[in-house]
Amino acid sequence: MPKILVIDDDVSISETLELYLTEEGHDVVTANTGTDGLNKFVKNSPDVVILDIRLPDIDGFTVLEDLREEDENVKVIMITAHHDMDSTIRAMKGGAFDYIHKPINVDELDIAINKAVKTFEMEKKIDGLLMEPSRQFKVGDIIGSGKDMREIFKTIGVVSQSRTTVLIEGESGTGKELIAKVIHHNTAPDEPYIAINCSAIVETLLESELFGHEKGSFTGAISRKQGKFELARYGTVFLDEISEMSLNLQAKLLRVLQEMEFERVGGKDRVRVNARIVAATNKDLKTMVKENKFRDDLYYRLNIVSILIPPLRERREDIGPLVDYLLTKINKDLHKRVIGVSNEMMDVFMKYNWPGNIRELENLLVRALVVAKGQVLVRSDFPELIDEHPKKENQEDKANGMETSGKLLTLDEVEERYIRDILKKNSALNKGEVCDILGISRPTFERKLEKYGITFERE
Ligand SMILES: Nc1ncnc2c1ncn2[C@@H]1O[C@H](COP(=O)(O)OP(=O)(O)OP(=O)(O)O)[C@@H](O)[C@H]1O
Ligand SMILES: [Mg+2]
Repeated sequence: MPKILVIDDDVSISETLELYLTEEGHDVVTANTGTDGLNKFVKNSPDVVILDIRLPDIDGFTVLEDLREEDENVKVIMITAHHDMDSTIRAMKGGAFDYIHKPINVDELDIAINKAVKTFEMEKKIDGLLMEPSRQFKVGDIIGSGKDMREIFKTIGVVSQSRTTVLIEGESGTGKELIAKVIHHNTAPDEPYIAINCSAIVETLLESELFGHEKGSFTGAISRKQGKFELARYGTVFLDEISEMSLNLQAKLLRVLQEMEFERVGGKDRVRVNARIVAATNKDLKTMVKENKFRDDLYYRLNIVSILIPPLRERREDIGPLVDYLLTKINKDLHKRVIGVSNEMMDVFMKYNWPGNIRELENLLVRALVVAKGQVLVRSDFPELIDEHPKKENQEDKANGMETSGKLLTLDEVEERYIRDILKKNSALNKGEVCDILGISRPTFERKLEKYGITFERE
């Protein structure tokens, strides 16, 4: 139920609005002064505020400003007896969601409230998406059976009991972010998980993204903004591609890690960091330290616990289980019913180098599933996969009739291929010996040779 706070000193108006809005199905709180309004705002965190401009203690514009300082996204509908353009502009510029004149027209008010509630809910949904509710991740979602992966699971278990900083290293697509999410889920599932890609934001913005800023600290800073470290509360801040952080910002991050406190940009108040920091990189930070591209002191601070994810080509035992796992997931997403990949394809997968690791495997499977005709994915479903080490058996598979480029064979076609294959591989044998291999009588063999137009050249 949407919650609405009405701030108006005219008791007859606030009571009428309360009655009307409650009947409309809203949860209503009222206040008759600016101070009372602000207190009730903090206590009740309403979705929408209806605010009178003229109040006995503080004027409405200031209340609007204070409300927005508390919550930048608050939806405030201003009401006033004045019809002047200036206050309308001032209110909208100050971040009001809408502006309504007295006497209040209920239709107009309904429209404004509905619009505000909808916007509020949409923003909440988007925020939720950005913060990716961690409930979606379970440890079971990490496929891995080798020694290295088992060690990683153990480390996840250990770090989940504390808030130590974790550094995750691994080639691109090895599952760094997945592991960060699983750590988060196991530590503080109900707190926010916030990911920041350090390479995707320009330096000055990154600073205010991380630490937040005070109102007026730079042009465009119209209100106080909380940074990710603050927003993450007791959750997790995931710093992706940490190697891309500028040396200047590295120094600031180091200070935060040392003191677990920071100041907002342009501010003096010290803000405590309660969140756990997980950093990830696909570059070798140690080498970067040697080349003076990454601060060594920061490297040691981040590296308190480190997780090194092996590339997929070094844990080929996971390829099969990953294919099964990913196919189940993709089938569900695409409403398909592919049951597996052909033996030939699995051979190619087992030999392939996987420079893009699991992400590459996932992308290949998604594309294959989109075009696949059959229930089993075959070689031709993966046109972009370059087979670096074509295996001899691949052709044999085909010759055996088990597999051909995408098209399924008829029994006759399989039989013909099989006979030709046996003849080719056993060129020294006579007809009787070939019949023994095929397990058929000589007249049957003759009929089949004729049927498929095969000439038996020996004898
Ligand atoms: N062990 C695993 N089991 C199941 N799925 C995995 C595993 N590792 C990675 N994935 C999946 O592979 C994809 C890529 O993983 P992720 O985004 O975590 O990799 P990354 O290392 O952060 O990659 P990049 O360096 O490119 O950012 C994701 O869809 C993830 O769910
Ligand atoms: Mg990543």
